[in-house]
Amino acid sequence: AVIRAGAYSHELVETAKSIASPGHGILAIDESNATCGKRLSSVGLDNTEVNRQAYRQLLLTTPGLGEYISGAILFEETLYQSTTDGKKFVDCLREENIVPGIKVDKGLVPLPGSNNESWCQGLDGLASRSAEYYKQGARFAKWRTVVSIPCGPSALAVKEAAWGLARYASISQVCVCVCVCVCVLMDNGLVPIVEPEILLDGDHPIERTLEVAERVWAEVFYYLAENNVIFEGILLKPSMVTPGAEQKERASPETIAKYTLTMLKRRVPPAVPGIMFLSGGQSEMEATLNLNAMNQSPNPWHVSFSYARALQNTVLKTWQGHPENIEAAQKALLSRAKANSLAQLGSYSA
Ligand code: 13P
Repeated sequence: AVIRAGAYSHELVETAKSIASPGHGILAIDESNATCGKRLSSVGLDNTEVNRQAYRQLLLTTPGLGEYISGAILFEETLYQSTTDGKKFVDCLREENIVPGIKVDKGLVPLPGSNNESWCQGLDGLASRSAEYYKQGARFAKWRTVVSIPCGPSALAVKEAAWGLARYASISQVCVCVCVCVCVLMDNGLVPIVEPEILLDGDHPIERTLEVAERVWAEVFYYLAENNVIFEGILLKPSMVTPGAEQKERASPETIAKYTLTMLKRRVPPAVPGIMFLSGGQSEMEATLNLNAMNQSPNPWHVSFSYARALQNTVLKTWQGHPENIEAAQKALLSRAKANSLAQLGSYSA
């Protein structure tokens, strides 16, 4: 017998909708300890728990952040941390009406049999970890895998990326418990952000990025459907369709918007509530202008941002680890968040 204990399916849809609300986007601060260390060392700071906590405290206690930010993706360490005054970071977010999220993948490793490509680990134990994260206050999850254009991508790498994302999305929404011949489908209650990042690296033209993105998203949606994922209860985190980073011919925001929206319209059902782009190494201004260009005409989804670097670069440079710079760094964060909020509404002007 199969019993469906769907306590959270309504909640999943509501969570996704509240993150995808007008003029709002996601602040991604879910860098792993290793990646956070690279960011800290760029301003001369050591990669210690104290420094990571101080930096995340600066970001998460920015007054007024909830005016522009509806969700924040945290790394596991941050989900369990508090401010130096002992207030849980999760509570700081809730006070600003920001939904806490959690990175659940365990990172990339080489994919044997491929063209020097990688695959993303983290499915083992994911159901029980997700239940714990829910208890800690997380309401959405993120799994980032990558696809490399210069390395192919091979059919194997695309299939593995798509299948892994679909299994993760299904487990985030629902898990299966077997108790004495009865199969109970329990909801985990986390809205999965589906992120197959197509890396910017390479000297290919924008048409090649479009071709690869269409292939990747076709396969992702094929497996999402096969795994019975509730489309109304997911969010996407795509790369924008741009020329490769080493391609001499650059594209205008209007061209990037045209190619990216073409890809989305061909591949993404309107049941999906939100498309939250990653910045992928674009400058802060490029990421804002490209998002603004995409919101010049109506489209079926909430088209917004889930930026890490394009929200944090100036903040980090302003802070430099000095307590007297915290206020100025928080102002820098608010100014980037506001610019992207306006871009979400299509009303940003430089
Ligand atoms: P960037 O915006 O720096 O590309 O980060 C994206 C990301 O996946 C972080 O969650």
